[in-house]
This record gives sequence, structure tokens and C-alpha cells, in this order.
Amino acid sequence: MPNIILEHITKKFAGFTAVEDLNMEIRDSDFITLLGPSGCGKTTTLRMIAGLETPTSGRITIGDKVVFDAETGVNVTPDKRDVGFLFQNYALWPHMTVYQNIAFGLENLKWKKSAIEQRVHEMLALLKIEEFEQRYPSEISGGQQQRVAIARTLAPNPKVLFMDEPLSNLDAKLRAEMRTELKRLHRDTGATFVYVTHDQLEAMTLSSKVCLMSKGVIQQFDAPLTVYNRPANLFVADFVGNPTMNFIDCDISETNNGYTVRFLGETGRFIPREKTDLKHGTYVLGIRPELIQISDDGALAMSAYATLPTGLETTIKLKKGDTIISSIQFGSIDYEVDRELRCDIISDKICLFGKDSTDLVSMGSITF
Ligand SMILES: Nc1ncnc2c1ncn2[C@@H]1O[C@H](COP(=O)(O)OP(=O)(O)OP(=O)(O)O)[C@@H](O)[C@H]1O
Ligand SMILES: [Mg+2]
Repeated sequence: MPNIILEHITKKFAGFTAVEDLNMEIRDSDFITLLGPSGCGKTTTLRMIAGLETPTSGRITIGDKVVFDAETGVNVTPDKRDVGFLFQNYALWPHMTVYQNIAFGLENLKWKKSAIEQRVHEMLALLKIEEFEQRYPSEISGGQQQRVAIARTLAPNPKVLFMDEPLSNLDAKLRAEMRTELKRLHRDTGATFVYVTHDQLEAMTLSSKVCLMSKGVIQQFDAPLTVYNRPANLFVADFVGNPTMNFIDCDISETNNGYTVRFLGETGRFIPREKTDLKHGTYVLGIRPELIQISDDGALAMSAYATLPTGLETTIKLKKGDTIISSIQFGSIDYEVDRELRCDIISDKICLFGKDSTDLVSMGSITF
């Protein structure tokens, strides 16, 4: 299986830059998700790797083969890149049975009849759709159709499988089910998956690495938990996590033995996890809701603004002055509105972002 390397890939549409100077290495057997808001360049990126869109500049290598190079004029056609596609609109042939739909691509590739038969049956078994073999697409459910589409895409054994929001037209329950199936499928096939989604939960749960984009530019390319715990900037921190990270303006100043941090009218000590050289000034604290714990002897005094129980956990909105922050507590809790509450910020995973640069400048803990 090949590595895919994108170097300085830029795509312009009539002066509009859809993707800008993108560098990315996709390793063998990775499950990469391209994540980001609508219009950030996910589909364009996928189409360029697949050969369906021509980059304006840069180079793409799949395995040991350069498939695109703007400088030398190399541009290998999609069918020679040994990749499979699964797009959002995965239209099956309505006049063909499930079996024929899966076999069709293999017939085009001039596979032998016996080999086709064997492969289609393997695919039917892998996707647990054996019983629908002789039915037409109109005679099976949406989720079953989706599985046929996946089987059809996997049948020629592509080394790389591209999927552009393949679950977007399924209901929530089916989506969750198909997510599990896709993860299994990735493991069972050993293929490299490149998956487009704007659903952060899908990206977090499925992928080995998340490529988070905004306005055509990569914001972070890391393992899901790194993206969650160590977001590169405010955009990433805000995009990933639900409820979102709390952002609180703060003032940092240096003292003899470390840093003083002032926020929400309180003064504490900021202890960086790694050596950092922070200049005096205004920063933004980023604190995940699960790091804010309510306790009777907590250091911060807030009031209960609203409680939102889901059953498994409760989001508690806490207010101080004009600032409202979220805390998540396990289980069902219902605090009386406007009741005084105290809380602590636990862990050394508090993020500190530059106010102007919006980049992560430090991580650490706060004590009072
Ligand atoms: N053929 C085209 N001509 C001009 N502009 C285009 C073309 N294709 C895409 N764009 C623009 O490039 C940008 C990136 O589009 P792209 O389809 O890659 O976004 P996306 O991240 O996949 O969004 P979505 O989540 O909505 O599918 C958008 O602003 C889009 O309008
Ligand atoms: Mg798209």
C-alpha cells in the first residue's frame, strides 16, 4: 500500500483560492478525515488526489509514482491512480440487481467470470448483504443501498478509498451503525481511507488522523486526541468538542516564581507544562467543559445560569459578570437557577492562546 504525499498544493478557480499551499503525508493504512466547515476545500482536496481536479500548482505522489506535478506537467488520469471513490450521491444502477451493481466495475476491468463471482460473494459477505444479492436497489433500504455502494467501490480492491460524506443522507441511527461498519471495514481491508466530513464527531471517532481545514488552509493535521487536547489555534479549539471549549480573556504577568493570571475577577498562578516564555499581556484561556468541576470549596465563585441534563451527563452553564462558561458533570444534576456555585479548574490541560495570533502559546494548570 502506498503513501500519498501532497506538496505545496494550491487550487485556484478563476482567481479564487479554494486550497492554499497544502502539505500532507497520508501513510499506508491511515484513516484520514478531511474536516472543516462548508466551502473550506475538502472536496476539492479529495478530487485533486483522485485526479478529478487539476491543481494550479504543487506535486502529488502516490506510492513511488508522481501522479501530478505542475512543473513537469505530469498528470496521471484517475483510472491509472488505483483509487476507489464513494461520493455522497452513490447512485446505484436501478435496472441492475445488487449482484450486477457490484460486478459491473469488475466486468469493465475485464476480470474473468469466475473471479468476478468469487469477488462479489466476498464483498456481499463482508458487508453483510448476501440476502439481497438478487434484489434491485428500489427493493432495499437506504442503509443497505449504501452498503452495496461501498461493496461496489471496494470490489476492485483499490489501495486507496476516497469517501466524500458517504453517510450524509442516512438517519442518525444508521449513520452511527455505518460508522462502526466503516471502522471495521478499514481494519479488515487494510486499505488507506481518505474521508471527507464536516461532522467533528465522525472525524474524531473514525480517523487515525484528522486534517482540519479552514478557508483552504490546513489548521492542524494530527491524531484526533491531539487535536482535541492540544488544538493548534482558536479555530481548531472551537471547531472540535461538544459543548465547545470555554474561551475566557485573561491577563498574564510575570512574577519571581512564574506567572500570575487574572480572569473573571480572580487572581491565580499559571504553571506552564513545558518551559515557555510568556510576555506580559492579554491572552485567551481555553478550558474544556469537563475540566471545570463544581465543588463546595472550589476556588472560583460563579452562579448557576442553566442546567441541561441529557441523562448520561449534565451541562451546567455558569455565569460571572457577562461571562457564561460550560461545565460538564457526569450523571443527572439539576441546580437551582441563580444559585451560587463554586468550581475548580482541574488538570494541566488548560490552553493559552495568543489574543491576536490566535495560536496556542502554552498549556498548563492554574492554582489559586
Ligand atoms: N468548479 C468550481 N468553480 C469555482 N469555484 C469552485 C468550484 N468548485 C469549488 N469551488 C469553490 O471552492 C471552495 C471549496 O469548495 P469545496 O467543494 O472543496 O468545499 P467543501 O469543503 O467540500 O464544502 P462542503 O462541506 O460544502 O461540501 C468553495 O468556496 C467553492 O465555492
Ligand atoms: Mg464537499
